[in-house]
Amino acid sequence: MKKGKEIRSRFFSTSSIFNYIPDEDRYLSQVEKPEYKFNIIGTGIMGQEHIRITILEGRATVRGVYDPNPQSVETAKQTFAMMAPGQDLIVYDSLEKACNDPEVDGLIICTPNYTHIDVVRIASQSGKHILLEKPMATTIPDAAEITRIANDYKAVFQIGLQYRYKAMYIEAIYEGLKRKSIGDIKLISIMEHRLPFLDKVSQWNKFSRFSGGTLVEKCCHYFDLMNLFAQSKPVEVYASGSMAVNFLEFEHEKRKSDILDNAFVTVIYENNIRASFNLCMFAPMFYEEIVLCGNEGRLKAWECEDYLPGPRLKTSLEIMRGEGNPSRVSTPYYPTYIEAGGHNGATYYEHIKFIDNIKGLQTDTATVEEGFWSIVVGAAAEKSAKQGLPVKIRDLI
Ligand SMILES: NC(=O)c1ccc[n+]([C@@H]2O[C@H](COP(=O)([O-])OP(=O)(O)OC[C@H]3O[C@@H](n4cnc5c(N)ncnc54)[C@H](O)[C@@H]3O)[C@@H](O)[C@H]2O)c1
Repeated sequence: MKKGKEIRSRFFSTSSIFNYIPDEDRYLSQVEKPEYKFNIIGTGIMGQEHIRITILEGRATVRGVYDPNPQSVETAKQTFAMMAPGQDLIVYDSLEKACNDPEVDGLIICTPNYTHIDVVRIASQSGKHILLEKPMATTIPDAAEITRIANDYKAVFQIGLQYRYKAMYIEAIYEGLKRKSIGDIKLISIMEHRLPFLDKVSQWNKFSRFSGGTLVEKCCHYFDLMNLFAQSKPVEVYASGSMAVNFLEFEHEKRKSDILDNAFVTVIYENNIRASFNLCMFAPMFYEEIVLCGNEGRLKAWECEDYLPGPRLKTSLEIMRGEGNPSRVSTPYYPTYIEAGGHNGATYYEHIKFIDNIKGLQTDTATVEEGFWSIVVGAAAEKSAKQGLPVKIRDLI
């Protein structure tokens, strides 16, 4: 991208309405020449999102894909053709070939959770930059092994905990931690109410042994945010949950689904902050919220997609500071074409930071240790819900 000070927009550089402008006359609509090439390992729903976002972000392109499921590969080809018309996409016939193509700078691993450990063992031999989807692993020992690999790794090793970059959480992190708008945070409350887990290739997300369990698979995002806002390590986790509504009749290859669809989780931190997480996966919408209570105020950030018509708020950030300081209610958004890329824009900013990390710039991506601790809380919560007893973290690791 040129170094001018004008506000530039992906909208101009990606819109076909400027196709009539000769390349040499393009300035605001100039299309960046990608500096990096990525391979996508696993091209299911998240792999396709990474293809779209790599090309939308523009500083990298996708060189190829590897996926053993022919339908996933076919869909990846269509997604790539839509985003980069006329360009070639390599389809590798083995993971090793995809990982070791000398033309490629980075690998984006978006295979099912239980495969991460084996894929990382092979991918990390390549020395290429790695973006590994969350949850980094399904068990604490596997997460510990990946942490060790990542700590010794010379190239970038980033974990896909991109909820940190949702517009309302970027603002909440700034207000809660940097600006300290509500004073010292004492209490954290997080809620996720959403539709059931979607269909997946081989339905891996319906089984705890493949996904790590609901509280690891999906909820590691929220435990990452909880740990971040607590600025401390968890010492004790108590959870209660059940399989109340979803997939009660579901079987795949003669095995019954065994994942929680609702839970309450309480986490106590070393610094005495208390946090709770409330999960319901049989709600007719996607709603998530974080409430932080400090000694000088209360902050609430939420996002809602309920599929109802009309102009309705989709995000909100409210900061209530009583008589002491001004309060504020706002609606943080990214441009619609960024939000449309996936996860309301969070994945786009994850890619910006992945490339900034490759360039050696300072970023605020979740460290591999933070990825590890998100799994620790999730795994502790799964164990506690099974046993009906609180779990001390020191007994787990
Ligand atoms: N960051 C996020 O918000 C987010 C959102 C969704 C999914 N995810 C994560 O992304 C990963 C993929 O999830 P998904 O929803 O795309 O699942 P999916 O089932 O839609 O896609 C997974 C793909 O990986 C392929 N695959 C299986 N084993 C493979 C292997 N050994 N090598 C290469 N490809 C393989 C499958 O054929 C499938 O096409 C999971 O770890 C999931 O937790 C993250």
